[in-house]
Amino acid sequence: MINLGILISGRGSNMEAIIKAVRLRKIPVRPAIVISNKPEASGLKIAQKYGVKTAVVESPPVKGASWEYDVRITKVLEDNGVTSKNGLVCLAGFMRIMSPEFISHYKRRILNIHPAILPAFPGLHAQRQAIEYGVKYSGCTVHFVDEGVDTGPIILQAVVRVKNDDTEESLSKRILKEEHKIYPEAVKLFVEGRIRTDGRRTLTR
Ligand code: GAR
Repeated sequence: MINLGILISGRGSNMEAIIKAVRLRKIPVRPAIVISNKPEASGLKIAQKYGVKTAVVESPPVKGASWEYDVRITKVLEDNGVTSKNGLVCLAGFMRIMSPEFISHYKRRILNIHPAILPAFPGLHAQRQAIEYGVKYSGCTVHFVDEGVDTGPIILQAVVRVKNDDTEESLSKRILKEEHKIYPEAVKLFVEGRIRTDGRRTLTR
């Protein structure tokens, strides 16, 4: 069975959606470890409630990708069976950019969720960007992580209508509901070996 490592920075609601689906036997994967770069992340307690092992690897104050930091993450992942041969790494609100070395170590084994219909509105505050731009539809995307910011091959997307009176908060809330559906679904597709990539395209069966 594939060993799953989930990286979080805060609330961990996507992490919870994945673990819940696993506990309901909807996804054949072993949640091996949840790692946070922030000791105060409330998602850590949620993971513990589900009996999933947790670890904190505090990130240095410098922003941006750092292989030095990612080596420490890799060690915790590998020590818990999340290897480049038999692991899956899910970024779930993990607010750091991974280094190219980390990405190549876990090539096509890292997934991320982003609260917009990529390639629109990558980076921070995607929901605010969508409202300010004036789009009528936004949503969320699960994609493989590559060296760019939110640029990897897309696996699943869900669309949400933007309402006239939406605020960043109300839109985020509706998008999050969809995130909780498509992230577990994408993890399931991955662990069941149902995703094939052809250049930028993923073909699921
Ligand atoms: C989610 O909305 C996720 O899409 C977003 O952070 C939130 C984390 O919530 N991620 C990004 O914006 C990454 N660019 P959660 O901790 O409750 O899962």
